[in-house]
Amino acid sequence: MSGGRDVYIVGNWKMNQSLEEIDSFLNQISTLNSNNHAWIAPQALHISKCLEKKPGFLKVGSQNCAHEDSGAFTGELSPKSLKEIGVHFTLIGHSERRSLYGEGDDLLYKKTLKALENNLYVIFCIGETLEEREAGKVEEVLSEQLSNGLRDINSKNVLIAYEPVWAIGTGVTASPEQASDAHKFIRNFIKENMKLDSQTTPILYGGSVKPENIKELLSNEDIDGGLVGGASLKADSYINLHKNA
Ligand code: PGA
Repeated sequence: MSGGRDVYIVGNWKMNQSLEEIDSFLNQISTLNSNNHAWIAPQALHISKCLEKKPGFLKVGSQNCAHEDSGAFTGELSPKSLKEIGVHFTLIGHSERRSLYGEGDDLLYKKTLKALENNLYVIFCIGETLEEREAGKVEEVLSEQLSNGLRDINSKNVLIAYEPVWAIGTGVTASPEQASDAHKFIRNFIKENMKLDSQTTPILYGGSVKPENIKELLSNEDIDGGLVGGASLKADSYINLHKNA
């Protein structure tokens, strides 16, 4: 993170947490005193509860949203309704959505447009698989995901999360050099090829971020925060991410 940039600590709770665990998390973090942005994305069923009980500084997001506001889309989450209940942001294109639910670039582009139209912040997730890394295709994959998924978008409400798929939930974090190379590439790619502002668009790193490694990751001038799964579930760990950032 370079001087003056904001830092984002975003918890992606995936399909975890009981109501009791959420109560305990929210009680414990109410005293958190951090200069960083504190965001969490609970599973959809728990968004309303989090919105009701959260301390003022905490922003609540969705892990996904639909490409339309309403209609015959059984099981989907309307971006308009998310905004209406007070949701601040949505993840789009998390690798689990891409790989397990077959979400491709065109759909992700449409979802991003709709979310932005509804004034939600979007954390657009990109990242290569281990196979792609080993085949030397990291830059190719990242540039395709960016130029297809975010195309002509020019908005201050977009954040990008670089999450190498092989680092997600595996305990293996990208080395500082690997993260640094990817983040530099992304910022430069945005500068040369896209309408987003390459200087002000936050680029978060995700993939086995923990309180123990967040400081080193953030010492990189192109890393503006962490998208954190496992280590964001417990309040003490989430608080330590903030303290160590
Ligand atoms: P992890 O997940 O921190 O558990 O690796 C990150 C993510 O999937 O966003």
